Amino acid sequence: MTSFAIISDLHSNIEALSAVLSRLDREGVDRILCLGDVVGYGPDPEKCIDLVMENCDLTICGNHDEALFKGAHDFNPVARQVIEYNRRMLKPNLWAGAAKRARWRFIERLPERHQEGDFLMVHGSPRDPIHEYMMKTDVIFIPDKIRDIFTYFEGLCFVGHTHFPGVFTSDLQFRDPGQLNQRWEWDGERAVVNVGSVGQPRDGDPRASCVVVEDGVVRFLRVDYDIATVQRKIYDNPNIPDLCAARLEIGK
Ligand SMILES: [Fe+2]
Repeated sequence: MTSFAIISDLHSNIEALSAVLSRLDREGVDRILCLGDVVGYGPDPEKCIDLVMENCDLTICGNHDEALFKGAHDFNPVARQVIEYNRRMLKPNLWAGAAKRARWRFIERLPERHQEGDFLMVHGSPRDPIHEYMMKTDVIFIPDKIRDIFTYFEGLCFVGHTHFPGVFTSDLQFRDPGQLNQRWEWDGERAVVNVGSVGQPRDGDPRASCVVVEDGVVRFLRVDYDIATVQRKIYDNPNIPDLCAARLEIGK
């Protein structure tokens, strides 16, 4: 039986991405898919793009990837500052070398959705693939939103974007990996799995998050990485607000 891993929201965190890729290598997954937001927030967008180009069989476009090209008008000031810095770093000028051009072209051409058999992959939601957040609290406060989103796909949908892993089911429940004992088996009903974030988790667990899918079973993994090194790079970089470093150690 083939297995695949899904990663998302790497956010220029090469330490987290490298640790996750080593873990997935040990897990022996056949393929790795990426749900976008390769850039933004962290100090190493170029290295992250290179590793994704090398290791991922498919990558979807996230809102930060898109903002490199379309602007970050709807971003908060911190996110906007870093994505504008990333654009200055990544955008090739007339004299740019092949590697720089290849990275830019790669991000520019990312698709906004990918359907593979029963599985749909998007960054945000099946209704608005790049931008919409499916928050865990929506099932309580805006259930109609989740009900409507569930009419936009069939089978199993994988998302990222909120940096908060878990599963939405058609009975309007959200369960996080702790409630699921890190393992959820798909029963064939419509469901949405959020794979969490590699480079900037926000569920209170600072370890990098991803999932491995095999034979209809989704396993939620957490991977330790060298947070202090990423923080030091951010504090030393005047173009990235300190907040982007501080939040990494609390996973918020
Ligand atoms: Fe993100």
